[in-house]
Amino acid sequence: MGIMMKSLTLKKVTAFAPASVANVGCGFDVLGFAIDGPGDEVEVQFSDDPGVVITHIEGDQGKLPLDPEKNTAGKAALSLLHALDEASSSGIEMKIIKKMPMGSGLGSSAASSVAAAVAVNRLLGEPYSAKELLPFAVAGELTASGSPHADNVAASLLGGFVLVRSNDPLDVIDLPSPDNLFCTIVHPKIEIATKETRQILRKEVPLAKAVVQWGNVGALVAGLYTNDLPLIGRAMQDVIIEPTRSFLIPGFSRMKESALEQGALGFSISGAGPSVFTLSETVEIANKVGEKAGNVLDDLGLEYDVIVSEINRKGAFIRYEE
Ligand code: HSE
Repeated sequence: MGIMMKSLTLKKVTAFAPASVANVGCGFDVLGFAIDGPGDEVEVQFSDDPGVVITHIEGDQGKLPLDPEKNTAGKAALSLLHALDEASSSGIEMKIIKKMPMGSGLGSSAASSVAAAVAVNRLLGEPYSAKELLPFAVAGELTASGSPHADNVAASLLGGFVLVRSNDPLDVIDLPSPDNLFCTIVHPKIEIATKETRQILRKEVPLAKAVVQWGNVGALVAGLYTNDLPLIGRAMQDVIIEPTRSFLIPGFSRMKESALEQGALGFSISGAGPSVFTLSETVEIANKVGEKAGNVLDDLGLEYDVIVSEINRKGAFIRYEE
């Protein structure tokens, strides 16, 4: 394509991408929504050396690679430059600011990839629409998760609820986000790597379980369209992934039981965990659920964070530019 970068007006851009809850119970790798609060920022500016150079990563405790080929944000930026045929002529300097915990189940790697794709796209004069950035952000997240899936990435990029009809080719559908839906996230402070929690999953699914699961995915989508919150709650059941992964999360059954007792619509694992989430009809229930789940983790002597958030409908955005 050949972009005349030096003639572009922007010198520096910072983008923010929000955390997200993937799977939403029943929709392994196909459903997700964005939340308010935590997220990642990526700052980019032009440099004279072609390619992408990551100069600094803040908030990662030295855990993330500076090599752009191995870094989710770096890889997202590189794949965007490649698609524009700019990788050998354009130079991007990148700074990553992690503002959310890694390995938490809140889509941290997706948020970095999305913020990078959005920031670089803006710096280059927005050759792509938001939705067109999806493949680049997915390519970035692939470096962390080991398999291409767009549920966190699409939610973080576009905001609201999303359905990934297909990962290959990518086909992502925006779903409605009902008002009066409050999410509680409880994040026990232990780290779980998505790559590993994907490896422990069975590759085959018994037909009877598949039937339950796809009934629930369809019902959840219907619930979002019709604003039927009890239906959304009934549909949030995951009979395939949760039974395997929940063993890795201390206090999972007790937290679930107490959340449902408090009136939460449903409770499940956020992404690959260890965070868990509920959806509730009122902020009071959402707060109570967080408090009670926290009590369970207190009993186990574990540290945790609780986040109560509405559904984030905005997705990623440009925070600063000059
Ligand atoms: N759908 C993904 C999973 C989300 O559950 O493994 C985490 O990347």
